[in-house]
Amino acid sequence: MPLVDGSTELFGIIGNPVRHSLSPVMHNAAFTLMGMNRLYVPMEAADIGQAMSGLRALGFKGVSITVPHKEAVIPFLDEIDPVAEKIGAVNTLLLRKEGQRTVVRGFNTDWIGANAALAAAKINLQKSRILVAGAGGAAKAVGFGLVQAGAEVVITNRTTESGKELATWLGCEFVSSEDIAWVSADVFINTTSVGMKPDLNGIVVPSSILPQFSAVMDIVYAPLETRLLREAKAAGCRTIDGLAMLLYQGAEQFRIWTGLTAPELIMRTALEEELRRRAIK
Ligand code: ATR
Repeated sequence: MPLVDGSTELFGIIGNPVRHSLSPVMHNAAFTLMGMNRLYVPMEAADIGQAMSGLRALGFKGVSITVPHKEAVIPFLDEIDPVAEKIGAVNTLLLRKEGQRTVVRGFNTDWIGANAALAAAKINLQKSRILVAGAGGAAKAVGFGLVQAGAEVVITNRTTESGKELATWLGCEFVSSEDIAWVSADVFINTTSVGMKPDLNGIVVPSSILPQFSAVMDIVYAPLETRLLREAKAAGCRTIDGLAMLLYQGAEQFRIWTGLTAPELIMRTALEEELRRRAIK
């Protein structure tokens, strides 16, 4: 935890609920390592409009936005990054002073986090066909990033209507759960909450389809090894856990807030230590 004094600059995360968030541990580890007098705090807020007034009034410098506010925050911004506008979701705020006025700009780093997690696992997105499960906000950001990077994307979702809607938005293929056995792809990504604690036995696709993939990525990080990743490993696939996307989206936030490259190793170590601490609590 950084030393806090009268000139400490404030950062944080707004969500509802937010007490489970790993972002404070990750960002405070980075600020401390870099010798920055900055503090990152969790802030639970039901009303995003009121929370935004609070941030402006209190002089916050940078904020993460999480569920359920990623879309609802947009009307309260002064500026929005064009990609975040296109995705329709903001997970990062940068606040700056212009005279007496505070200007709040919104960004989306989720899609960058997903692409960076895949790149770190040496996956060439331009040459990959990727099956993505889910059609919610996470699937939208991940799918957008993949298409942007030149991957061929296929969407599957429990509910056909929303799955088809996302596939149309992305300009890609949709396959229903019933037809999933016939799909071929190089990489599989789960963007749903299936497999997340306490649903430890949950798996979003039948494990019989896993052997065809060279890599399988899960955005769920509690537990770190989901049933999907355990069975993917057993099927011989490379696996990318949910901490990877969390880490790389956070690394991009750090870059937006500081202009510096994030200390990724220390951030990943802090995340793993915190997950271990929670597991034994
Ligand atoms: P987020 O914004 O975090 O992505 P969301 O918008 O609620 O969350 O989307 C959740 C996604 O997980 C959806 O694609 C949802 O499928 P439906 O569209 O059919 O609701 C998917 N999902 C959640 N629980 C699921 C389950 N038990 N089995 C299959 N898919 C599930």
